[in-house]
Amino acid sequence: MIGRGGGGVVFRAADRRFPDGVALKFTLTGAVGQHKAAREAAIMQKVRHPHVCELLEYRCFESAGIFGLALELMNAGTLTERLAQHGGKLAQAEVVGVVFEMLLALKHVHGQEIVHRDVKPSNILRHIRAGPDGVEVVVHKLANFGIAVAASNAAGSPSAIMMTSTVGLQAQVEHRST
Ligand SMILES: Nc1ncnc2c1ncn2[C@@H]1O[C@H](COP(=O)(O)OP(=O)(O)O)[C@@H](O)[C@H]1O
Ligand SMILES: [Mg+2]
Repeated sequence: MIGRGGGGVVFRAADRRFPDGVALKFTLTGAVGQHKAAREAAIMQKVRHPHVCELLEYRCFESAGIFGLALELMNAGTLTERLAQHGGKLAQAEVVGVVFEMLLALKHVHGQEIVHRDVKPSNILRHIRAGPDGVEVVVHKLANFGIAVAASNAAGSPSAIMMTSTVGLQAQVEHRST
């Protein structure tokens, strides 16, 4: 198991098609779980971007009554873990990098009329790979679309909902920089 949150349990798994492995996220069992997983998968299919964790497959193990999302495996933990390892403070350049990458992700997500509604360090995942000159390249991706909504389906105007989401992100940034 590599992660757990309010909406699911996440395991690292091997898959011949994806040599780097996959992350399998299982939601609740039963009809509620099926609905949640299918909804999250449908939203993730609409938001493909270099800074959004990619949905590889939605798997429905009908007979076992469990539902899972196969996600690209992010190999370097969450931003929460990164912060904890550094006493809650990161270098300014790193913070600027994370915020920039998340703004790119949110710009794309909002362009698809999706509002994430849960942008926070535990939903920002890190991936490290070796760059061409041997220097580590760290990429951050927005994950966990478990409570995301399509703006057109939500109460309130799309712009009002997106404003709430953006103000939330700003609050996080201010909190982290103090
Ligand atoms: N694609 C992934 N690769 C690696 N770890 C992941 C991945 N997706 C989720 N996790 C881990 O599982 C945790 C919970 O997943 P998340 O999608 O945020 O669900 P929840 O709704 O339960 O918070 C994350 O905080 C992270 O530690
Ligand atoms: Mg989460």
